[in-house]
Parts: sequence; structure tokens; C-alpha cells
Amino acid sequence: MAILKILQYPDERLHKVAKKVLQVDETTRKLVRNMAETMYAAPGVGLAATQVDVHEQIIIVDVSETHDQLKVLINPEIIASSGDSDCEEGCLSVPGIFETVRRAARISVRALDENGKIFTLDAEGLLAVCVQHEIDHLRGKVFVEYLSQLKQARIRAKLKKRLRETM
Ligand code: NI
Repeated sequence: MAILKILQYPDERLHKVAKKVLQVDETTRKLVRNMAETMYAAPGVGLAATQVDVHEQIIIVDVSETHDQLKVLINPEIIASSGDSDCEEGCLSVPGIFETVRRAARISVRALDENGKIFTLDAEGLLAVCVQHEIDHLRGKVFVEYLSQLKQARIRAKLKKRLRETM
């Protein structure tokens, strides 16, 4: 297994739209294993393939404290959603920034698992938020893009400054 490099906002590649996975195979499973290792090491509760510069519709989430509830969603599609939830979010591609985003409180998602088997996940709370956040990545959207233009400009400036300081 390997730790993958996570793209950092405002990297343009985070805005690429991911393609559907046509065949779930050993290459897919290897990527999923490396993504999981990367997410747990970070540590984070979710990761989209987009964030490791692979533009395929693959996301993983694990909101458990024990790190043993990994969910793999390939070609995820939200088939139902209800309610509103305001939750403070962070992102491994936007380190140190936490902002509140409004999302659906409950969702049903249809996806393929790592063996290519179709399943439906009903989620609420943190899991629902996390899945919506990761699906956004596949569409090329980073959570800070829900904020005002002014806030986004401030966040970009802050992250660029930090990047310069660490070089
Ligand atoms: Ni994220």
C-alpha cells in the first residue's frame, strides 16, 4: 500500500470532473486500498479519487472513531434527499480551514462497491454530510466554493501564504 499525494486547494486539478468507472477491477481495488491508507494516515473521514489526481468516480468514507467502517462508493448517485443540515466541514485538500455548509440532512445513495456490486446506502448525520462533500469533489467542487466570493478569496490568500512559508 502507499500514501498518495493529496492535491491542495486552489490546485486547478481539483476542478476536473471525474468519469464513471466502467469496470471495477484489481486496479480499482488497489487505488481504493491506497486511498484508504492515505485517508487514515492524514487523518480524515473521507477522500475522493479527484483529491489524489485520479479523475474517476470513486469515494471512500469512514466516520467511525474506530476506523473500521470503511465505505467505498463507486459511481455514487444520490437518489433521494431530505431535510437541511448545517455542519462545519473541513477537507484534506483545504488544510486548517473549517466552515459551515448547508446540505441535505438525509440521503440515499446508489453506488457500486469495490467488487462491482450495486448497493444503496441510507445515511444521515455526519455520514450524509461526508458523502455529499466527497461526491462534490467528483464534480470538481470544493466545499469552500459554497462560501461568499470574499471568503473564498481570503481562504486562497491564506493558503498561498502558508504554502510560501513552507517552501
Ligand atoms: Ni474534501
